[in-house]
Amino acid sequence: MFLMNEKENHMQNLQAIILAAGKSTRFNSDQNKLFEKICGKKMILYATQLLEHLNIPTTVIIGYQKKIMQKTITDYHHNRINFSIQENQSGTGHALICSRDNWHAEHILIMNGDMPLVTNEVIEKLYKEHIASKATISFVTAHSSNNSYGRVIKTNNSIKIIEARNFNGDIHEQCCINAGIYIAKKNFLTEHIDTIKQNKISKEFYITDLIGIASKKNLPITITTAPFDQIRGINTFEELWAAEQIKRAALIKYWMNQGVRFSFAQNIHIDLTVSIGTGSFIGCGVQLLGNTKIGKNCAIHAFSLLNNTILGDRALIRSHSVIENARIDAQTHVGPFAHVRENTHIKSHATIGSFVETKNSTISHYSKVKHLTYLGDTTVGSHVNIGAGTITCNYDGIKKEKTIIKDNVFIGSNNSLIAPLTIHENAYTAAGSVITDNVPPNALAIARARQTNKDGYTQKTPTAQSPEKKSSKTKKKTERTTAEYKDNAPLFVAATLLTQEELNEEP
Ligand code: UD1
Ligand code: CA
Repeated sequence: MFLMNEKENHMQNLQAIILAAGKSTRFNSDQNKLFEKICGKKMILYATQLLEHLNIPTTVIIGYQKKIMQKTITDYHHNRINFSIQENQSGTGHALICSRDNWHAEHILIMNGDMPLVTNEVIEKLYKEHIASKATISFVTAHSSNNSYGRVIKTNNSIKIIEARNFNGDIHEQCCINAGIYIAKKNFLTEHIDTIKQNKISKEFYITDLIGIASKKNLPITITTAPFDQIRGINTFEELWAAEQIKRAALIKYWMNQGVRFSFAQNIHIDLTVSIGTGSFIGCGVQLLGNTKIGKNCAIHAFSLLNNTILGDRALIRSHSVIENARIDAQTHVGPFAHVRENTHIKSHATIGSFVETKNSTISHYSKVKHLTYLGDTTVGSHVNIGAGTITCNYDGIKKEKTIIKDNVFIGSNNSLIAPLTIHENAYTAAGSVITDNVPPNALAIARARQTNKDGYTQKTPTAQSPEKKSSKTKKKTERTTAEYKDNAPLFVAATLLTQEELNEEP
């Protein structure tokens, strides 16, 4: 590997061209495959970020869905990357021709855009050997019997690349494949790029013909090798899946070495942008996405999803919780089955229990919202208890209103809190209340109809039935059902695995 200064000096005469205009035909989807994400990062950004990291000025050739492509790249790289346009996608050789106006450096690195696993070392090795050998053109190969790659065919005095669809030989014998990364002298390209012939079958112009052209002219060609896993090209969803498995496995190994325990490492998804504190536990099927930051000694249990969420130390997320764009402080408990939505801030030692949904809300220290609750646009003070089944009614169909619940408040079960509303310190609300007005400090608010008992109701009303009559009717029904059950005994035996003796038994 080069040192930084050495690298800058060495690579000053190098520029890069990324081929990203292709139609992604083999994906059979309606979006450019280079927008597909691998561990949360779009495929094209793997190539552009790699080259930026190596300080190589880069041009991307765009065509299919070019506006979105340009935006995707400039959103990240701003104006640090140039573009060339290939209006009609007539192959990789044709794409390169379309970038001609952007050729300035002495050596030009050309790379497919669909290679997300390429490392710095692969590029550095190619460059070093290209320069050392004074080659006209150099390219990377790997060994694989995968039949979707161009095959490098070497004889005593010639080298050429035969594309997968034109190759009839034995893929196991001819297992040297073309990776899709080349460095060529600019002068060679300028002189020979127009001599690439259109392929008769596909009607495309292949960049790979440049190797055969250089070979025929006896120009020096250098071949470097790389591990197949690092140069995998992505042409199908299956290949995308395989590449993501490799990336994800590397990421999970990294976090394991940082002291993170994974219960089912093979079915956990982590984006590249996530960080996890030492001593944390990640359960089966957990997905950690976006800019999620997990503190130290946290536990995130099975099938929970955290997206753009900051989790403080020792937080406990029970299973099946979905948490997005939220901040959850230290020593909190969330879930199971909680839905913590955007702009939720759960402060330390607070508890959010099962089937609780929150949005635009703050829940302060030591407060408990344990069962079946919705809190929207709500500020909950500390040491508050929210009873089961409580709902903040924050939306009147037109606008959203706020609910403020101050410290030490006790909200009874099954309350509807009609916003805008303030419930002051130490106040209580009775179970089943519909609270429409502010509640003063230390008060008990009861807002429900008072219960009346109508004595002798069942005797006076012909439609009402006594409990006795009801039970005799139920009994008859049960007997009839049992008789039917016996008639159909063989059927039921199969279905329920009861023995004949058990069937004959009187109920
Ligand atoms: C290419 C190579 C093949 C090599 C393989 C490595 C050619 C002809 N073949 O095949 O030898 O083994 O990569 O993965 O180059 N693109 C354009 N414009 C086009 C067509 C493609 O910009 O008109 C871009 C695509 O967006 C893609 C790249 O070029 O990023 C490679 O194209 P792709 O169709 O994937 O080439 P392969 O068939 O994989
Ligand atoms: Ca490809």
